[in-house]
Amino acid sequence: MLVSAILYLLLPALQASAFALDQNAVITRGENKPNSTTTLLVNAIVGKENISSVECWAVEPGYQISAQTGNNVLQLGDLSNASYSLWPNSGGPIDLGFHNAPAIQWVVMLTGSANITFPNVTSNLTVGPGELFIAADVAGTSAIGHRTVGDSGSTVLQMPFQDGITVNHTVVNRTGPCT
Ligand SMILES: *[C@@H]1O[C@H](CO)[C@@H](O)[C@H](O)[C@H]1NC(C)=O
Ligand SMILES: *[C@@H]1O[C@H](CO)[C@@H](O)[C@H](O)[C@H]1NC(C)=O
Ligand SMILES: *[C@@H]1O[C@H](CO)[C@@H](O)[C@H](O)[C@H]1NC(C)=O
Ligand SMILES: *[C@@H]1O[C@H](CO)[C@@H](O)[C@H](O)[C@H]1NC(C)=O
Ligand SMILES: *[C@@H]1O[C@H](CO)[C@@H](O)[C@H](O)[C@H]1NC(C)=O
Ligand SMILES: *[C@@H]1O[C@H](CO)[C@@H](O)[C@H](O)[C@H]1NC(C)=O
Ligand SMILES: *[C@@H]1O[C@H](CO)[C@@H](O)[C@H](O)[C@H]1NC(C)=O
Ligand SMILES: *[C@@H]1O[C@H](CO)[C@@H](O)[C@H](O)[C@H]1NC(C)=O
Repeated sequence: MLVSAILYLLLPALQASAFALDQNAVITRGENKPNSTTTLLVNAIVGKENISSVECWAVEPGYQISAQTGNNVLQLGDLSNASYSLWPNSGGPIDLGFHNAPAIQWVVMLTGSANITFPNVTSNLTVGPGELFIAADVAGTSAIGHRTVGDSGSTVLQMPFQDGITVNHTVVNRTGPCT
């Protein structure tokens, strides 16, 4: 997903009240197309039975259609505790080691990329520049968490969900990322 696509999602959300709902919007599971008109498919790092892994989620409700511009608009919720982080610029890959998500949150890789692996499962997640995903394997849900190895100097936006409650969704794949 391109950075412009993120802005496309974020900026219109600020003016949500101006938009009309598309009552005919339906979620089609198993789609992962950049211009899907139904909803966003997003990779989610979760803790299940004390083990972290990646799932593919379809965000609910799906896109609303902007009456003003015709854009597909997805509400991300109250992002008022969002933070920006800059990873060290060491010249080589940065190994953040095994850790739990600090909060249940949206994460946007603004620049750079990262490989995320899990000690107890074979599926992994590669996150590229401009990609939106969810990190939810907070302490108490996963003994070890996930391991992140990213590009030096990557920049990341972290946006905790209000009250630690994830966005409504259906799980499209319980054992691997969106393909
Ligand atoms: C995405 O949009 C392009 C340009 O409008 C179109 O050619 C393509 O078929 C669309 N793809 C999907 C999966 O809807
Ligand atoms: C998960 O992996 C860790 C590290 O390899 C290991 O110590 C632990 O026993 C594993 N847990 C399970 C439930 O397999
Ligand atoms: C992630 O999994 C794919 C498919 O099994 C594998 O090719 C790739 O090397 C893995 N990446 C990492 C960083 O472990
Ligand atoms: C999860 O793992 C941690 C660390 O090994 C352990 O203290 C805790 O009791 C485990 N929780 C569950 C529900 O198994
Ligand atoms: C992520 O994994 C890919 C494929 O294994 C590799 O080419 C890339 O350098 C890795 N990225 C980082 C930041 O380690
Ligand atoms: C932001 O953080 C404050 C302080 O922890 C908390 O009271 C508030 O509920 C949070 N707001 C959101 C939207 O997460
Ligand atoms: C999420 O789903 C619950 C249960 O169906 C509903 O009460 C709640 O309003 C939904 N939240 C949003 C933001 O759609
Ligand atoms: C779910 O992900 C796993 C691991 O990547 C893959 O083998 C499987 O085919 C996927 N299932 C679906 C329904 O996409």
